[in-house]
Amino acid sequence: MGGIKPDDSAPLLIFGGPYSNLQATEALLRYASDNHIPVGNILCTGDLIAYCASPEETVNRIRDAGVAVVMGNCEQSIGNDADDCGCGFDEGSACDLLSAAWYNFSRPRVSDNNKAWMRQLPEQIDFIYQGTSFSAIHGSAEQINQFIFPSDSDAEKQQQMVRLECDIVLSGHSGIPFGNKTDSGLWLNAGVIGMPANDGTPDGWFMVIKPEAGMLKIEWQRLRYDFQAAAEAMVENGLNNGYQQALSSGLWPSLDVLPDAEKQQTGQPLQPAPMTFIL
Ligand SMILES: [Fe+2]
Repeated sequence: MGGIKPDDSAPLLIFGGPYSNLQATEALLRYASDNHIPVGNILCTGDLIAYCASPEETVNRIRDAGVAVVMGNCEQSIGNDADDCGCGFDEGSACDLLSAAWYNFSRPRVSDNNKAWMRQLPEQIDFIYQGTSFSAIHGSAEQINQFIFPSDSDAEKQQQMVRLECDIVLSGHSGIPFGNKTDSGLWLNAGVIGMPANDGTPDGWFMVIKPEAGMLKIEWQRLRYDFQAAAEAMVENGLNNGYQQALSSGLWPSLDVLPDAEKQQTGQPLQPAPMTFIL
């Protein structure tokens, strides 16, 4: 279990899923620098490597910046030279076949040094910010590749929160930005920067948390970046597939992993409402 010590006087910047998208990663780090957010207040919920064209470069950029990273299933799999991405897709499903393409592209392109770094990443990062306890994980407390979606029950999220013993959970993996208020605290997912959120727009998502009038204010923001350059880099590297098209269309090539409620949101622009947490 890792930990960070963020500066209470600056906002927190939380993001997930760079997914080998160097252009999105650069845009996120530019936002941090433009808004004077110190690196100690930035946290990534994992999956640095996935669908896009720049796996090694994206890891190097995040490492060079010094951003704290929770291990995702992609770091766990590539770091250990596993045979697949460990997303937990059903064998032979559309997601399974699509993930084989990027995984087999990425695995030989990541240096041994970066694989060793990925292996030592913590699966959980706990910290205190403004007197509030946070736990950052990738999937769930119990399983690195468990998808937790907005429509999953409060009971499921509360069960996880009791295990984590925190006020606020920061999760990743599912690719959708959302927040749920439960009787045990907040379950927040910043969304991902490296792929759109299946909402019909090319934007990625990240989350900013800051104190305001005795409360923490939680806001989700769109990451607008040069998605055309990211898509062109995929074509140049032979990754001319459904994920390449998704960078522009904002629509996922397969909805296999989504519950019905999230499937029905396909193509509808998202705007998670800001949330508050009383300090
Ligand atoms: Fe993941």
